[in-house]
Amino acid sequence: MKIIHSVADLPRNLTGSVGFVPTMGAFHEGHLALMRRAKAENNHGVVSLFVNPKQFGAGEDFGRYPRDLDADAAMAEGAGADFLFAPTRDDVYPTDFVDVVVRGVTDRWEGAHRPGHFAGVATVVLKLFNLVRPDVAYFGQKDLQQCQVIRQMVDGLNVPVRLVIHPTVREADGLAMSSRNRYLSEEHRAKAPLLYACLIEAANAIRSGGNVASAEESGRSRLEQAGFLVEYFAAVSLPGMDPLTDLPGPEGTSAVIVAAKVGTTRLIDNVSL
Ligand code: PAF
Repeated sequence: MKIIHSVADLPRNLTGSVGFVPTMGAFHEGHLALMRRAKAENNHGVVSLFVNPKQFGAGEDFGRYPRDLDADAAMAEGAGADFLFAPTRDDVYPTDFVDVVVRGVTDRWEGAHRPGHFAGVATVVLKLFNLVRPDVAYFGQKDLQQCQVIRQMVDGLNVPVRLVIHPTVREADGLAMSSRNRYLSEEHRAKAPLLYACLIEAANAIRSGGNVASAEESGRSRLEQAGFLVEYFAAVSLPGMDPLTDLPGPEGTSAVIVAAKVGTTRLIDNVSL
């Protein structure tokens, strides 16, 4: 695997397809699953590692976001990546006068709780697509709203990249893998799987014809009783991320989503309906 720090060193004219996994590093099994799939389904696997300042709000964890290039490089190589592109801030943002703003799907949930976050994500993902020029890009379903935002960006700007959404990879106890899980104290780590348990409970209730609002309410209150600070717990329709008011349609057209803080760590997760 080749580590590339400068845009000028990116490979051009590779023969065959390029599968691309954009990341912010601090790799876990969820990232590695995307990398393995990108390589298995394409001739070349490219991973980018860039902790994008533009998608962090004031007071968020940009400064303490885990950074360990050597450990990440070893893991990416083990997962079959051919290139690890770790650009500098100046390479990604030679100027900073243009933002990609996706309307509609960003109105609620993460978009409402993290103002500017999705403009930061859409901007950097389009930049990385323009730099890496992949055929296919791989994203994890854990960031469900991010996936819908990038889908809108790609469709709305005629970006010639095919998107693949890969299922969330979980710990044995159900906790969705996330780079931020390493912030959890032992006590909070023990509580964290309740997030997924509540999502499953709500999804089962809604699937079997239960009232959506009461499924949301019992998920939220079970988490609050356990000490979580719940930002949202909601059933949504896809791809628009609008609140689900009716029975869910065919499988995969809606989901239950949650964001909650346990201690100081903010976790998000979702399950498909
Ligand atoms: O999901 C992430 O890690 C980031 O939001 C992404 C897509 C790499 C953009 O910085």
